[in-house]
Amino acid sequence: MDSLLIDGLAQTTLHPLNVRVNRAKGSYLHLENGRKILDFISGIGVSSFGHSHPDILKAIHHQVDQHLHVMVYGEFRQTAQDSAARNLLSLLPDALDAVYFLNSGAEAIDAAMKLARRTTQRQTIIGFSGGYHGNTMGALSVSSNAARKQPFQPLVGDVEILEWNDLRSIPLINETVAAVIVETVQGDAGIRIPDAEWIQNLREQCTKVNAMLILDEIQCGMGRTGRPFAFEHFDIVPDALCLGKALGGGLPMGALIASKVAMAQFASGPSLSHITTFGGHPVPCAASAVATSLLSQVDWARIERIGKAIEVNLVRFKMVQSVRRIGLYIAVQLESDEQVQSVVHEALNQGVLIFFFLSTPDAFRIAPPLTISDEELNDALEGLNRTLEIVQS
Ligand SMILES: Cc1ncc(COP(=O)(O)O)c(C=O)c1O
Repeated sequence: MDSLLIDGLAQTTLHPLNVRVNRAKGSYLHLENGRKILDFISGIGVSSFGHSHPDILKAIHHQVDQHLHVMVYGEFRQTAQDSAARNLLSLLPDALDAVYFLNSGAEAIDAAMKLARRTTQRQTIIGFSGGYHGNTMGALSVSSNAARKQPFQPLVGDVEILEWNDLRSIPLINETVAAVIVETVQGDAGIRIPDAEWIQNLREQCTKVNAMLILDEIQCGMGRTGRPFAFEHFDIVPDALCLGKALGGGLPMGALIASKVAMAQFASGPSLSHITTFGGHPVPCAASAVATSLLSQVDWARIERIGKAIEVNLVRFKMVQSVRRIGLYIAVQLESDEQVQSVVHEALNQGVLIFFFLSTPDAFRIAPPLTISDEELNDALEGLNRTLEIVQS
């Protein structure tokens, strides 16, 4: 079978891209065969400051020389955790003043679900159509893709999926609801941006019925949408925020951020209500402290200019039905799943990495590093243009 990556390594698909990476730097992946590929998806939203950013590497090296893991999360004071928390919280509204570091995005979602049930003493958790929150049993439960959930039933109980961006969903959120979980901008649904009116109504309703509004910005946070956090586009503040992906600057990390009052619930009744051995590991924390400080140096006007240039370039092609974009978070809608398959594979031949969505097979994703240079952008667009011409002809 030519699809095996290596004997003994679990496969997640029968059709992996199957290229071996030797090195990655900035916007480029350097392959074993000497080719270089422009990473136009930032490792699916992780390497938003480019691969192996020198300041991030420096912080990692420094931390490795100090100490690695020393104790389960929450027992020892660790400088790297303090810096990561301080830098992150300094970018967020005052109401979000406590952070719990975890190892992944899905873990942050699971922790948020537990926190909501614990603080409200209610059970029902609401997710939305098109939502994707990860693959642990909890995160899968609040995600919407039925075919991806069905083989693993029963999942977490008392979860309801309501219609996304539909004002008729709002009054269905009542006093039995512990939490509402929504991606501020949906990723896997193919970059879907909610109406400001809808998400603001959602905020108001959660306040009215005392349900927690949990925003999943695991993919759309950390600058991806052209602001540090996507909720800033909508003039709302969540009760809890889940982060991951780019948060760790290339290392595995998730975070649940809420108020100190809410987060205090994890410390008692029972004590150690939510614990993790590796969450808040000092090395990802050291990397994250730098990633969040890089976030405050981004030229947002330039991000918008680059995003617009990509969009304008792509809509010229006949096979492109539409481009959905906010900042550098982009979905390109084609006519069919087959076209997307051909485009992703041909782009790789042309030296550009673009990729699929799990639940939106007739669109492909673009999410370049926020640090991409003008020259790299031109190279990527030329590769993409050649690709679309070849597939279109
Ligand atoms: C919006 C969103 N939420 C949650 C997750 C899950 O994060 P992880 O894969 O780190 O568990 C993802 C991952 O793609 C995501 O895009």
